[in-house]
Amino acid sequence: MVIGVQEVKMKTKLPENYLELIASAKKAMRFSYSPYSKFRVGAAALTEDKKIFTGVNIENASYSLTLCAERSAVACAVNSGQKKFTAVAVASSAKKGCPPCGACLQFISEFGADIDIIYAGKDGIFKVKKLCELLPEVFTLKK
Ligand code: THU
Repeated sequence: MVIGVQEVKMKTKLPENYLELIASAKKAMRFSYSPYSKFRVGAAALTEDKKIFTGVNIENASYSLTLCAERSAVACAVNSGQKKFTAVAVASSAKKGCPPCGACLQFISEFGADIDIIYAGKDGIFKVKKLCELLPEVFTLKK
């Protein structure tokens, strides 16, 4: 289940700490609690002071209460007093990979539109996109 960073395929060279972030998201997948979907997701959030916080999807018998891995990772960081993020990486057991769901993008957007979102695309190559590219119109209470 744990996949080494050497197996990460990329089109362009990523910053060193992004490789570590992807590896952390992949490693976290082993702790996924996903008895219903059997779909493992791991996420890792990188803070401005270069700390990594991980999270996994946590499912519930009342399906809609399921917590996604990305929200879990960001919540873990916020619980330690962190509010400034540079990137969030997501890894999953999907052969084709996937970006974070819309709810997770909205959740992460609370902390900045400029955050890099790293995820595996259909070809298995990791992509880096700004949160504002993936979710151009966020919900905000600001007028
Ligand atoms: N899931 C995530 O952890 N992150 C996402 O961005 C989308 C979906 C989880 C929720 C559920 O446990 C499983 O994937 C299948 O939907």
